[in-house]
Amino acid sequence: MTTLTYADYLQVDTLLSLQETRAPDTASRSVVLAEHFFIVTHQACELWLKQVTYDLDAAADAMTPPYGPEDEELALEFLQRTAELLRVLHEQVVALERLPLRHFAEFRPFLDGASGAQSAQFRLLARLLGGERQEGRLYRAFERLTEHNGISVTEVCARGPGAGVLNRIADSLLDVANGYWRWKMTHLALVSKMVGNRNGTGGSSGVDYLARRITLPFAQLRQLRAQVHDALVWEQPTARTQ
Ligand code: HEM
Repeated sequence: MTTLTYADYLQVDTLLSLQETRAPDTASRSVVLAEHFFIVTHQACELWLKQVTYDLDAAADAMTPPYGPEDEELALEFLQRTAELLRVLHEQVVALERLPLRHFAEFRPFLDGASGAQSAQFRLLARLLGGERQEGRLYRAFERLTEHNGISVTEVCARGPGAGVLNRIADSLLDVANGYWRWKMTHLALVSKMVGNRNGTGGSSGVDYLARRITLPFAQLRQLRAQVHDALVWEQPTARTQ
């Protein structure tokens, strides 16, 4: 009788065969290891992006009709997991700050035109979250869910914990958006540390280009919460004057 092994289940051999460095044979061991580190980090990011985009897609589905009895809780779980995984993705970029510049400079020419800007999964993530001017699928699904519950997103924000799971979903959406923003900020800092104001391998101006692309998703939700903030501030009893 055969039993499934760890290596078979996870296809470890295939996985570990995917890190093909491009530095020439004449490169030192340190340079090859630095490039290996660079590849592993990017591949790990792509794996986590796969989970993140699947989870966000599932969260949007759970907030879209037809609704099952557990769908609101499911959407919340998917969003909370995504927020946690964006923290993991952020830590990957922080780890790459330990890539020695002299070694990076030696293998960078062999990247040719390859650039993170070509990451299809990252673009999918950006589309799901939406930009500052246009909401994505996730927020539109959340609006439908609130309508289904007979209240608006404005009321969810105003009621706060009184709106139950809908309020927790709104909170988690912002955790996800802030995690995405944090990743972009950390990536920008890493790029600035590694290549300063030099062009990217994808042909962009590098740091300037990336800085312009840093966005905070869910602008409407932030706007509505700001209004709640203002209303709460005005409701406070006026400070007693001595
Ligand atoms: C030494 C490390 C890194 C450097 C120097 C670097 C550099 C850059 C530069 C210059 C760009 C702008 C596009 C271009 O012209 O190439 C860019 C974009 C991007 N990089 Fe990196 N990167 C690094 C690490 C990473 C890692 C670990 C990831 C994880 C997947 C990543 C993902 C991306 C993504 C998704 C974009 C597009 C961002 C957007 O559209 O706003 N990069 N990178």
